[in-house]
Amino acid sequence: MTKYYLTTPIYYINDQPHIGHAYTTIAADVLARYKRQRGFDVLFCTGTDEHAQKVEQSAAKRNLSTRDFVDQLAGTWQKTWDLLEITYDDFIRTSEPRHMRVVARFVEELYAKGDIYKGNYQGWHCFWDEAFFVEGDVRDRLCPDCGRELQWVQEENYFFRLSKYNQVLLDHFLAHPEFVQPDIRYNEMLNVLKSGLRDISISRSSLTWGVPLPFDPKHIVYVWVDALLNYITVAGWPQDQEKFERYWPADVHLVGKEINRFHSIIWPALLLAAGLPMPRKVFAHGFWTREGQKISKSLGNMIDPIALVEELSQWTGNRKVAVDVFRYFILREVPFGADGDFTESSLKMRFLADLANDLGNLLNRSLPLVENAFDGTIPFGRPDPKLAAEAEAAKERVQTALDELAFSDALTQIWSFLGKLNKYIDEKAPWRLVKEGRPEVLADVLYNLLEGLRWTALLIAPFLPATAQIFWQSLGLPGQVKERIWDQELKWGLLPTGLSVSRPAPLFPRPEPSSPPLVPAANSIQKRLPIEDFAKLELRVGKVLRAEPIAGAKKLLQLTVDIGEPESRTIVAGIALHYTPAQLEGRTVVVLANLQPAMLRGVASDGMILAAATGEKETEQLALLTVEGEIPPGAKVS
Ligand code: MSP
Repeated sequence: MTKYYLTTPIYYINDQPHIGHAYTTIAADVLARYKRQRGFDVLFCTGTDEHAQKVEQSAAKRNLSTRDFVDQLAGTWQKTWDLLEITYDDFIRTSEPRHMRVVARFVEELYAKGDIYKGNYQGWHCFWDEAFFVEGDVRDRLCPDCGRELQWVQEENYFFRLSKYNQVLLDHFLAHPEFVQPDIRYNEMLNVLKSGLRDISISRSSLTWGVPLPFDPKHIVYVWVDALLNYITVAGWPQDQEKFERYWPADVHLVGKEINRFHSIIWPALLLAAGLPMPRKVFAHGFWTREGQKISKSLGNMIDPIALVEELSQWTGNRKVAVDVFRYFILREVPFGADGDFTESSLKMRFLADLANDLGNLLNRSLPLVENAFDGTIPFGRPDPKLAAEAEAAKERVQTALDELAFSDALTQIWSFLGKLNKYIDEKAPWRLVKEGRPEVLADVLYNLLEGLRWTALLIAPFLPATAQIFWQSLGLPGQVKERIWDQELKWGLLPTGLSVSRPAPLFPRPEPSSPPLVPAANSIQKRLPIEDFAKLELRVGKVLRAEPIAGAKKLLQLTVDIGEPESRTIVAGIALHYTPAQLEGRTVVVLANLQPAMLRGVASDGMILAAATGEKETEQLALLTVEGEIPPGAKVS
């Protein structure tokens, strides 16, 4: 049996699963189910990334040990995937001993080979994305990926000789244009390789949570190196050589486009350094957005897949079918690789048109005819060669699409076959045959129709597992449709006669016109604050006593401000391009007084001056907020 090894990213454990994560995982699950039905020996893995710095800090904030904290969280991910019918074969947690051993062993080997060396690292680090950036890539100290403020990191680190593998990778890319997909992502990576790779830091000395370097345990392995290695841990490296030789290299890593560089360049280089084969393919898909913004925890526009399924169950009356609705929508709506905006109206439209009308009605129209004319028993009928040819062609197209990970195309092909079956009913008009008393012709028509339903069950099984099983059982077919191998089953005319059909409860009933919205509007989730949150801000009237420039910072001024406290505050403000020190001294301003202090260009800034601004850079206009009349410093602003 040929093997097929596919993976999802391992998700940061302290994130909350949202539909973005579900997207990759559902796509992987469909692929895994499809490959199993094509007779492959599938290894499908997902898991959690637990050694990020933010995990350590979140645990500390809750007064928990990091270990207790991650153990509490791991279940949430598994629960979500179980609900969504994800059939993973292994769920890896990077804090498991089996993985930590692999990480230590791997870096030790690279060190012994001379591909890891000690050096001094300085550069920008995004705490949130766990990513490092070189000076040239950074503007305004903000993370190029997520826009958050970056930290300047300067420490003794170990480096990986990434640059050494630049040429080999470039050659590999040129020889294998299918290595990274879709093309746009391939081209981005090719450009990165052409512009030259620099060695990367692969350890941190300021952390304790993670895998210590065996040759210098004061250092912890950089979380991304640690995380990428999960893909060989689950494949058995290095202990289980037999398993490793069977499953490695991975056939495809499914990832979001923001982590493509880690998977398409750094990961293959690490493998090359260890003398291990590179993965066969990386597919970097697009983002789900809401009103154009990426769905993410930080933007507060997340949709919890469990909550969404709960709501959809109100429509379907069956939770497993509700899961199918979500799985269908998320893969049908947007071509895999492109970005897509999640709207309730498109979900509803797909539900009504594709699922209720095309799919659900097909079953609703067919089964009563068998019940009425043949006592619910599948009659003997002769295969219709035209329909058989349509089915065969659909199967070929669906397979081609799925082999290319074109999930939406595959569904379009299945739906076009459903269209043919619906048309077949309209044209053959079996109800007329009943009236005309032509039982033999009627038997032929119904047999072919039911055979079409059997094919439908098989074709939709990877995408809509519960619905497929309901179709299967309603035809009286035994066992699990997901276990049936396409090459053996998808032959026109294999439906046995004599089975008893049974009508299931309606699968996709029309939602009540008055049914409540499925998901809260994007801007009503976290963008609007409850009044208690506003009350957390301590805004006070202040009087600027002194203003002075800061050497080397042309935008900043250091202000000494009286806010009615015994001691005046030092506040650094980015207003030097708009106000001279003389214009500020003696002025009344509004101060955010309970902001955490921050070091800005060597000055400890304790508060923030409020200003209104519009435009960017050269065109920026800025005006300080002030208060009318005579109000003493320290007065509360609310
Ligand atoms: N822990 C790293 C991955 C390490 S893999 C060796 C990480 N984790 S994450 O929790 O941030 O998950 C990122 C992945 O979640 C994306 O690459 C993508 O697969 C999925 N998505 C997260 N948000 C998404 C959208 N808004 N849209 C589509 N997919 C999204 O990065």
